[in-house]
Amino acid sequence: MIKIAVTGANGRMGTKIIKNILKQDDMELVAALGSPDTPLEGKDVGEVIGVGNIGVPINSAQKLAEVLKEKRPDVLVDFTRGHIATHNIKVSAECGVNVVIGTTGLSDEQLYKIRKAVEKNRIKAVISPNMAIGANVFFKVIGGVAKILNDYDMEIIEAHHKHKADAPSGTALKAYEIIAQALGRDKDDTFVPGRQGMVGERTPGEIGIHAVRGGDIIGDHTVLFAGDGERIEIIHRAHSRQSFVTGAMKAVKYLSRAPAGVVCDMGDVLGI
Ligand SMILES: NC(=O)c1ccc[n+]([C@@H]2O[C@H](COP(=O)([O-])OP(=O)(O)OC[C@H]3O[C@@H](n4cnc5c(N)ncnc54)[C@H](OP(=O)(O)O)[C@@H]3O)[C@@H](O)[C@H]2O)c1
Repeated sequence: MIKIAVTGANGRMGTKIIKNILKQDDMELVAALGSPDTPLEGKDVGEVIGVGNIGVPINSAQKLAEVLKEKRPDVLVDFTRGHIATHNIKVSAECGVNVVIGTTGLSDEQLYKIRKAVEKNRIKAVISPNMAIGANVFFKVIGGVAKILNDYDMEIIEAHHKHKADAPSGTALKAYEIIAQALGRDKDDTFVPGRQGMVGERTPGEIGIHAVRGGDIIGDHTVLFAGDGERIEIIHRAHSRQSFVTGAMKAVKYLSRAPAGVVCDMGDVLGI
């Protein structure tokens, strides 16, 4: 049985992760944590997410270390916010608990701190800005196309629901990194965030990222390769958050065979 703790337990993703854990024969939810000042503290998380009492109370995020030490989960699953996830991973690593992190908006500095904590405490970790299986195939494909069409103009367009906190999305940033790497760009090279005003002619080689926000769009990503007289668009659309949850469940199971002290991604989980 894989024992799991979930942070961001009452969030859009946390709620769905918990419902899925409850459906798995080989997984057990042992702890659920909300924000530090959550008014739900002490309430049963099953009642809160509408599946009835499951005997797991929501704890304040401030009690993370205490709860991990008491409940001894095998894995912490985190879908929260960048700075919170960074702190949660550090605490989790110090408690010897492996992590699956879907939280996006992690800065290079935060990722550095996360890698250090994982390395130092020899825990196992999967971190991915997009856990959907199709999205990870999309990551594979765009790098290959960028290598072939290396002189085409490339733009990344992402669309998400109106509540999304970070922009551009973690998936769009990863798509940029993959394309930049495929083109052999300098690692300090950066993207053009949208365009406004008299920007003039497109600079050869620039890569734009455009963030659309509205309604309940779960997550669309397009990479556009435009040449003279034609264009190719490679698109991934998430129809439901279940796509991310299914990937996260695979990541949890992958941890049993993952290397310790290294941050893995969904490419490792899926073997692609
Ligand atoms: N990797 C992927 O496949 C994937 C897919 C979808 C989303 N995401 C990412 O996952 C993250 C969460 O997305 P979401 O849509 O679920 O957001 P959300 O609904 O806003 O949930 C965020 C959760 O974090 C909790 N939280 C807020 N402040 C906190 C704090 N200081 N300490 C501990 N917990 C705190 C919130 O608790 P309260 O409600 O009590 O404030 C809430 O439960 C985002 O970064 C999003 O981009 C990743």
